[in-house]
Amino acid sequence: MTDRYLEFTHSTLGRALADTFGLPKPPILQRAQTAYLAQPLSEQNVLFGTTQGGELPQSVLAALAAAGATIRVVADHPALAEIKSAAAAVNASLKTEAGLEDKAAAASIFVFDGSGLSSVEDLRQLYDFLQPRVARIPANGRVLLLARAPADAATPAAAAANAALRGFMRSLGKEIGRRGATANLLEVGRGAEQGLAGVLRFFLTPHSAYVDGQNLLLSAPPKGASLPNNFVGPLSGKVAVVTGAARGIGAAIAATLAREGARIVGIDRPQEEAALGATLAAFDGYGLPLDITAADAPQRIGEELEKQFGGADIFIHNAGITRDKTLKNMSPQAWDQVLGVNLGAILRINDALLKKGFNDGARLVCISSIGGIGGNAGQTNYGATKAGIIGYVEAMAPLLAKRGGAINAVAPGFIETHMTAEMPVGPREVGRRLSSLSQGGLPIDIAEAVTFLASPLAVAVNGRTLRVCGQNFMGA
Ligand SMILES: NC(=O)c1ccc[n+]([C@@H]2O[C@H](COP(=O)([O-])OP(=O)(O)OC[C@H]3O[C@@H](n4cnc5c(N)ncnc54)[C@H](O)[C@@H]3O)[C@@H](O)[C@H]2O)c1
Repeated sequence: MTDRYLEFTHSTLGRALADTFGLPKPPILQRAQTAYLAQPLSEQNVLFGTTQGGELPQSVLAALAAAGATIRVVADHPALAEIKSAAAAVNASLKTEAGLEDKAAAASIFVFDGSGLSSVEDLRQLYDFLQPRVARIPANGRVLLLARAPADAATPAAAAANAALRGFMRSLGKEIGRRGATANLLEVGRGAEQGLAGVLRFFLTPHSAYVDGQNLLLSAPPKGASLPNNFVGPLSGKVAVVTGAARGIGAAIAATLAREGARIVGIDRPQEEAALGATLAAFDGYGLPLDITAADAPQRIGEELEKQFGGADIFIHNAGITRDKTLKNMSPQAWDQVLGVNLGAILRINDALLKKGFNDGARLVCISSIGGIGGNAGQTNYGATKAGIIGYVEAMAPLLAKRGGAINAVAPGFIETHMTAEMPVGPREVGRRLSSLSQGGLPIDIAEAVTFLASPLAVAVNGRTLRVCGQNFMGA
């Protein structure tokens, strides 16, 4: 569904009216126009800063250089010597900010390593790095903070200082969102440095256009799992299954996984067979029309995967339904249907395919919702299933890691699909504007996040739920 208000405010008349009456102007988000590139940051100025004693400069600088970035540093930065020696160790060249004072030439990406924060006073280094430059963050700019997970911090004061980045990042996201710029935080667990390069390629590029105000915990990759040598076509040779692939978010996920080289198996209800076929035809996908709640669905999926492809490397549990009613008015059927499709089927299919159907190293992604985090009146059934997914991926992560793979969830915010088009006009309009980016997301935004998590770029992400919601204020 189209966001007519956003379109209007970018027309000549709409812009003039919005300026005259001080109405909000949702920014046009810059989304990825291509598959993952070998050097996605070429021609981009990335300003890098760190606290003294930061533990991540080498990993970050190596990743930025490999991605083609022009790495800039602040000439009088207190940790300049440390940055220079880290850059020398990984053969990354540095330039100063000279020439970037002009707004038009400003850096578009700001990366700050806070892993060395050990006291409240240290936080002043973050302020000094960003405060003088915040007004120059351009449209669609990126601020990415890095920290150690507070649980890994050496002292309570270090834990407090690292955790402080969460609130800083969320507040900054709300300040810069109206420009389409985003702020996010990566909490890097011990050993997760090895996977940082893949995660940066998602968070610093337009693949993450609608991910805002989030902190993501990274963990050490499982044995045998590694980043791809060449980041181009990270899913080539992989077989990826997507449920609910006929339309909406599922169709976008299938197309995006195919864009990165995966062979797609699309599943949807038998009555959607024609739509499923039409979606899959665009990338020669294989259709499997079945109801995922059918008693024999897990067995049929397993058998079909075994017979046609020898197994699956990626499984995306996307199919979902709503049957909204307040609890007082909710029928047992509405409860059972939603619980059955959104949660029960996922558990049953995974249980079966973990025995036979998933290849070693399989990466699974389940679609949750911010409704499972913040809750919505009229969605006790839906909210229960979407929160259930969050607990489920956390619990299953060690099991998948043992097999060299991972399981994660994506929690979409308000996304322009058939599901949200059916909402009453008032709540729909409120849902759209209630985010830092003051607009709903598109199915491609969820598809990009799912593709990232399904790929070896996310080798350091397991058991996590990533919100893709433009920093929707619900459940924050
Ligand atoms: N649209 C949003 O704003 C939003 C927000 C948060 C979460 N989500 C979640 O994203 C996922 C996709 O949502 P969407 O908006 O694309 O929905 P949609 O209704 O447009 O598409 C859902 C697809 O799932 C299929 N499906 C439903 N029940 C099935 C079953 N029993 N077996 C097989 N296929 C089945 C449908 O036929 C349909 O093709 C869902 O899990 C939804 O809960 C959506």
